[in-house]
Amino acid sequence: MSEQSLDADLCVRECERCPALVDSRSRIVNGVGPTDADLVFVGEAPGANEDEQGEPFVGRSGTVLDDALRDAGLARSDVRITNCVKCRPPDNRDPHSEELDNCRGYLAEELDRIDPELVVTLGKVPSQHLLGRSVAVTSENGEVFDARVGETSVRLLVCLHPAATLYDRSQADAFEETIREAARLAGLDDDESGSGGQSRLGDY
Ligand code: URA
Repeated sequence: MSEQSLDADLCVRECERCPALVDSRSRIVNGVGPTDADLVFVGEAPGANEDEQGEPFVGRSGTVLDDALRDAGLARSDVRITNCVKCRPPDNRDPHSEELDNCRGYLAEELDRIDPELVVTLGKVPSQHLLGRSVAVTSENGEVFDARVGETSVRLLVCLHPAATLYDRSQADAFEETIREAARLAGLDDDESGSGGQSRLGDY
């Protein structure tokens, strides 16, 4: 199957499983990025910007993520970015557990078909959802676990949510380091200098 048709295959086009989300969404926000990506980022659910533009992580959190990817030598288009829940919850509330469960099959199918080297969970909700236990993201940030999503086994790296760095600047270094670690674990860092990212010539 071509990448284009696999991507189309992974798109949720119609879903009415969560009445509150059907009411609050203006569209279903599917994952973006290569369907053979080595690295998949999983967020919680679309916010207002994502709902408007139809793409995950395009608001301020998306800018933080894009910057950290660039710092790690990656472009947004090198990775897959998706969410546990594909529709915007009302008033940006956290998705309810039954909404997470309703959407779990779509994410499981996405991860099964993509079969990445590494899944990075951005924040508490996706970390807890995929690990099936309570997670203290600040202390578990940067830790790697084995997880099972549907039929698929994945290597999972817990990461702070990019928005955490907007509320608390002191979390920015830890967030950026975890994104660099994600690139290393997925085999996407071609850095031979050991400086942990793209060339810093521009700094000089
Ligand atoms: N936060 C998320 O968890 N997902 C998005 O798509 C945007 C912000």
